[in-house]
Amino acid sequence: MIDFHTHILPEMDDGASSVEEAVDMINELQSQGVSTIVSTSHYYMQDESVDSFVKRRGIAYNKLVTYANQNNIKLPNIILGAEVLFSPILCDIDCKPLCIGNTPYILLEMPYTKFSSSHFKALENFLNVSGLQCILAHVERYYHFNDDKAVEKLVSHDVLCQINAGSVIDKKLRKKTLKLIKNDCAHILGSDTHNMSSRKPNISDAMKILDKKKLGTELMCNAAELLNL
Ligand SMILES: [Fe+2]
Repeated sequence: MIDFHTHILPEMDDGASSVEEAVDMINELQSQGVSTIVSTSHYYMQDESVDSFVKRRGIAYNKLVTYANQNNIKLPNIILGAEVLFSPILCDIDCKPLCIGNTPYILLEMPYTKFSSSHFKALENFLNVSGLQCILAHVERYYHFNDDKAVEKLVSHDVLCQINAGSVIDKKLRKKTLKLIKNDCAHILGSDTHNMSSRKPNISDAMKILDKKKLGTELMCNAAELLNL
């Protein structure tokens, strides 16, 4: 399995708070059957340059690898990326270093607000100017701030959409989340795990539900294809 959305790097963001917790999260994901983890630490352009983020990310990754080597821990395939908070001025900076591995795909977190036409225009502008392929993070979350029509309009753009495992597991959110997948409006699955307490890795519980509905394999195949695995 592939987990496409995680915060496993130690001390990078509000995810793993130490290298020990990072290893616990990785071990848990591996025990759930995950062999490739996409690491998507938060990137906020108002706080930091892309260069600084990439440097910090490299340091956090090296710390993890060094700790794993020293303790005879076999790490899975880890692909570095970012979860980039969208801004209308994101197109002013070079976002290529924030893409997932060496793909042209960037994971965008849309603002948690009611969408207006200016949001859609800004997204269209980013798609045109950046030349990158966008994946919208946890697309089901935008229902909390928008009606069905606005979310439909968002996903009708030339983008791929990721859903969180938790939204498949949560009985209140499941129906809407499954509908997104069935309607080809959600393509990729991620745990969005942040820690080993309140936001633990939960990909296998979601996959059990998705497999019963014959939806799991397609999500995993989409991720594999996108990552050239
Ligand atoms: Fe996230």
